[in-house]
Amino acid sequence: MERVLTRDGSPTLRSDVWDCAYHSLHGAWTEAKHVYIQSGLHAQSLCQPQNPLTILEMGAGTGLNALLAVKWAHAAERPVTYYGLDAALPEASAWESWWSARPESAKDLDPWARAMRNAWEEGKAWQTPWSTASWIQGEAASWRSPLRADVVFYDAFSPRQQPELWTAEALEPWLEALTPEGFFVTYCATGEVFRAVKSLGFAVEHLPGPPGKREMLRAHRKGTTFTP
Ligand SMILES: C[S@@+](CC[C@H](N)C(=O)[O-])C[C@H]1O[C@@H](n2cnc3c(N)ncnc32)[C@H](O)[C@@H]1O
Repeated sequence: MERVLTRDGSPTLRSDVWDCAYHSLHGAWTEAKHVYIQSGLHAQSLCQPQNPLTILEMGAGTGLNALLAVKWAHAAERPVTYYGLDAALPEASAWESWWSARPESAKDLDPWARAMRNAWEEGKAWQTPWSTASWIQGEAASWRSPLRADVVFYDAFSPRQQPELWTAEALEPWLEALTPEGFFVTYCATGEVFRAVKSLGFAVEHLPGPPGKREMLRAHRKGTTFTP
C-alpha cells in the first residue's frame, strides 16, 4: 500500500491488491466532502431537522468519510451514528502514512482520527459527544443490514475493479436499508449503475460531480416528500 497525494493536496492510499486508490486522484478530501457530506449527510439532514441521523457505509477504509461525518455532527450539533462495513481496514503502517500527510485544515482532527482508528482496531465503537462510529468487519456479498439508515455512503472500489459490487443484486440490500426519506449517495454515476438502481424501484438522480467527475449519483425511495 502506497501513499499518494491527490490534486487538492490531500492524501490517499493506493492498493496494489486492487490496483487502484482509495479515493479520487482529482482530490480525495474534496470528493469525500462533496459526495458524502454535502450531497448525502447534509442534504438529508435538511429533510428532518430534529432527528438523530444514522449513516451506513460500504467501505469504511481509512475512516475518512466517518471522520468527516463526525466533524459535521459537531458543527451542526446533530447526533450521528455511523456504521462502516469493510472486510479489512488498511494496515496500521499504511494508515499512519496516509494520516501523516493530512491537509493543514485537518490538523485539529488528529486526536479524533487516532482515537477512532484505535477503537476500530480493538473492535470497539468510538464515541464523541455528538457521535458514535463503528467498523463492522464483514463481506459485502453476504452482508444484510440489520438496521435502517438515513444516509448510505456507497464507496466500493470502482466498477472496473469490482463489477460484482455494482449490480442491482449487490446494491439492493444497501438501498433497502434506507429509511423512508433516506439518501443513497455514491461517486459512481455510470449508466449501468444508474439503471441498476432505477431497476430496483428507487428514484435516482445525477448531481454535479466533484472535481474531475461530471456527475455523481443520489437515490431515494419514490414518493418521499422531500424535493432535492
Ligand atoms: C474505495 S475504498 C473505501 C474508502 C473509504 N470510504 C475511505 O474513506 O477511506 C473501498 C473499501 O471497500 C473495501 N472492500 C472491497 N471489497 C469488499 C468486500 N467485498 N466486502 C467488504 N469490503 C470490501 C476495501 O477494503 C476498501 O476499504
